[in-house]
This record gives sequence, structure tokens and C-alpha cells, in this order.
Amino acid sequence: MRKLTYFVACSIDGFIGDPKGDASSAYGYVMGEYLEYMRTEYPETLPAQAWPALGIEPGTPSRRFDTVVQGLNSYKVGLDVGVTSPYSHLREYVATRSLTESPDPNVELIADDLVGRVRELKAEVSGLDIWLCGGSTLAGALVDEVDELIIKTYPQVYGAGMPMFGTDFTVREFTLGPVRTFDNGVVVRTYTRKR
Ligand SMILES: NC(=O)c1ccc[n+]([C@@H]2O[C@H](COP(=O)([O-])OP(=O)(O)OC[C@H]3O[C@@H](n4cnc5c(N)ncnc54)[C@H](OP(=O)(O)O)[C@@H]3O)[C@@H](O)[C@H]2O)c1
Repeated sequence: MRKLTYFVACSIDGFIGDPKGDASSAYGYVMGEYLEYMRTEYPETLPAQAWPALGIEPGTPSRRFDTVVQGLNSYKVGLDVGVTSPYSHLREYVATRSLTESPDPNVELIADDLVGRVRELKAEVSGLDIWLCGGSTLAGALVDEVDELIIKTYPQVYGAGMPMFGTDFTVREFTLGPVRTFDNGVVVRTYTRKR
């Protein structure tokens, strides 16, 4: 089975954005050594529309993921500014019960049996994994399907905000894997789910 990986940015106190989910206060950290790491290790997680400005060549192969799953609210962040396929270099899935027609041929909507659909994607044979992009509600719905966490922590404390997982209280155990630190204070930790 390939992995469902929640690859997500958060504050030191574990919030993925302000109370409405806006994560733009952390954008200033996407620079220098850390930006180079993102460009080379995870280019497919950077929106296609930003590739030219980031110096990523068209056709750059994906390193870790060939599929992305996001919730409607996360997808809407791009859609509201006219971006219908933010990760056109990946297979894109958007979970939604309210949107009934996909705005883009590359985007497939998932309305029913989200967990079952994600399990089908995990069962596909591929050398690359599935990126759970977020947001909080979708990650909460899929928390028990998450096999790996890659948490990009920015050196900021929010005090309040949108949690990484919008779900109930249950202790779920993970094993710490590689940790990368960057000169601007960003820390990227990888954890594997204990099964
Ligand atoms: N820091 C980061 O790395 C990061 C990453 C991603 C997103 N974000 C932020 O997260 C925020 C959005 O998070 P959010 O929690 O508000 O929303 P979300 O998880 O992106 O989307 C929630 C929507 O997904 C659909 N959905 C959820 N569970 C479903 C299920 N079981 N079956 C079918 N559809 C389902 C529903 O759409 P319907 O209402 O249509 O049914 C629901 O309203 C954004 O502001 C974004 O900026 C941050």
C-alpha cells in the first residue's frame, strides 16, 4: 500500500492558519535555504502557477507524490482567484458534497465514501504517495488513514487558530523520522503512524 501523507505547514503551537485558516503570515519564511529544499525535494507541492517565479522548470518530475487530496475550502483559496487546477502536475481530488460539477478536467470531486475512495487510491500501484494537502476538516475526516506526517513548522506562535486536525480527542501514536532544520528557524519533521 502506498502512503497517505499529511504534508502541512503549521505554527509552533500546531495551527495551520489563523482561526479562518489563513496561513499567509508564514509566507515570509519560504525563502533562502528552505525554499531551495522545497524546490528540490517537494516541487510538486508548490502551486503550478508559482513555478515560473520560483524558477521550477516545466515538466520537473514529482519527487514524493503523484496525487493530491484537498477539501473544498482549501481548493477554494485558489478557485476564488481563478485557479481551477493549482496542482495540474498531479492527479487532483477535491472532497465536497456541495460542489457537484468539477471546475477543471484535472480535478475529480469526491462526494461519497471519502475514506473508501482514499483507500482505493492507497491500494493503487505507484512508486509515489498521496499528498493530503488539508485543510483541517478534511484532515480530521481522514486522520485514521494518515500513514505519515511531514510537518513544516514555522517559528511563530498563534495562540489560537485552525487546528491541524479538526476531529475529536483520541491519542494516536507516531514514530519520529528525519528532522531537518533551516537557518530561518523552519523545522521539518517526518513521523510515521504506529499501526
Ligand atoms: N498550513 C497549511 O499547510 C494548509 C494546508 C491546507 C489548507 N490550509 C488552510 O486550511 C483552510 C481550510 O480548512 P477547512 O478545515 O476550513 O476546510 P477543508 O478541510 O479544506 O475543506 C472542508 C470541506 O471539505 C469537504 N469535506 C470534508 N470532509 C468531507 C467528507 N467526508 N466527504 C466529502 N466532503 C468532505 C466539505 O465540503 P462541502 O462543504 O462542499 O461538503 C467541507 O466543507 C484554508 O484556509 C487553507 O488556507 C492550510
